Amino acid sequence: MGRLNINNINPHVRAAEYAVRGELAVKSEELRARLNKGDTSLPFDKIVSANIGNPQQLDQKPITFFRQVLSLLEYPNLLEKEDVLINHLGYKTDVIERAKWLLKQCGSVGAYSASSGVYAIKESIAKFLEKRDGFSANPDHIYLSAGASSGVNTLLHILSESDKSGVLVPIPQYPLYTATLSVLDATCVPYYLDESKAWATDLATIRGAYDKAKADGVDVRAIVVINPGNPTGASLSEEDVRSVIDFAAKEKLVIMADEVYQTNVFIGKFHSFKGVLSKLQQENPGKYDDVELASLHSISKGMVGECGHRGGYFELVGFDAEVEAAIYKFVSIMLCAPVIAQCLVELMVNPPQPGEPSFELYDKEYNAVANGLRERANALHKAFDQMEGVECGEPQGSMYLFPSINLSQKAVEAAKSENRTPDEFYCMRLLEATGVCVIPGSGFGQKEGTLHFRTTFLAPGTEWVDRITKFHKEFMDKYR
Ligand SMILES: Cc1ncc(COP(=O)(O)O)c(C=O)c1O
Repeated sequence: MGRLNINNINPHVRAAEYAVRGELAVKSEELRARLNKGDTSLPFDKIVSANIGNPQQLDQKPITFFRQVLSLLEYPNLLEKEDVLINHLGYKTDVIERAKWLLKQCGSVGAYSASSGVYAIKESIAKFLEKRDGFSANPDHIYLSAGASSGVNTLLHILSESDKSGVLVPIPQYPLYTATLSVLDATCVPYYLDESKAWATDLATIRGAYDKAKADGVDVRAIVVINPGNPTGASLSEEDVRSVIDFAAKEKLVIMADEVYQTNVFIGKFHSFKGVLSKLQQENPGKYDDVELASLHSISKGMVGECGHRGGYFELVGFDAEVEAAIYKFVSIMLCAPVIAQCLVELMVNPPQPGEPSFELYDKEYNAVANGLRERANALHKAFDQMEGVECGEPQGSMYLFPSINLSQKAVEAAKSENRTPDEFYCMRLLEATGVCVIPGSGFGQKEGTLHFRTTFLAPGTEWVDRITKFHKEFMDKYR
């Protein structure tokens, strides 16, 4: 057979596309390397990675309480010097207590845990869910994972029986879903979100996509909902969540609720699928008892932003016991989620409470991150509002804005001559002119005939926004 080459590897891996780390991201890293080597020939002196929701790569500071606890978990010998910790390093007593408690629960963070996670941490998650939703949660149905990505990967593996197995995926979407389905050789059934209604789900559209797939012989098994949305930032109303659950109940679809941005909400309130399903079950005895829901959360986003640690969890509701045993087997093949990340999940769901020694600083840091995100989202939105041919709804949630761009025929032709889609062409020119890396809408899927790009609003300051505004004007003038 000879050496491995691109033509004899798994064709499904070859076919998968993952734009957030695609050509533009690679090019931005090349430019960054040139700048680091002292290259002064570029028209900018820094790269702004607005392509990926990676909070701490930009300016988001880790929460002190979290990192203090982690430091003790990584090096428990420090606990022999409590006086130094308290009197010289500013650790509070609740940091020390929490670290001791976690060490008691997991032994060493250098040891594997149980496959589905440290049980006491699963209990903390269940308590958090109960408090969040006002309904009970069972730790036995909670699985710690290496980020939400790993949970999605597990669930899609379990769901995919054959290439006919289909999953309804919102478009535009975070490409984890299409890429994983592609690797699994299962079928992605796209359903469009409604840009004219702030990117909400539209039941008639979902039904249309479902019926068409069924008619094409696809065995549709699940529906993915990302709430708040990526790349759209949409934050769904309770009504929308209810109608998706109702549809899933009628068609017997597993609901995969990707709720990693649940604390990144600017307008209205986050409505969890678990909470709304529990309410529906209470209001309509029997009717929704068979709904299968997997909801996912993560330490990567929100005010935690610890994505490099790779932690998260998913909760299952209504799954058949043998299917759940297969899920358990699947996660056990990977042994367990990183234990230090499991501890971060515990800290996320069980942070310092009012009156506790670390609360004041925790609260201050948490609010500073939340307010900073909101301010930057609004500043960026204001800039987009003033750009010719750019339309962008008000920031609602998550870490992204997804404006539409209207480009001239001349720009479309220029893109074609480079073998690029017009949005790719625009984003490439933007990167080359400003060092700002954003992702073209085609990387997430967009309605035929529309063009968008996605940018995070994580980067500090407004200078980079000014660079985008200036580039945009020049680009529009050039291709008028
Ligand atoms: C919607 C969505 N789901 C999942 C993930 C992956 O999160 P994690 O870092 O927990 O794997 C992301 C990351 O950007 C995301 O945007």
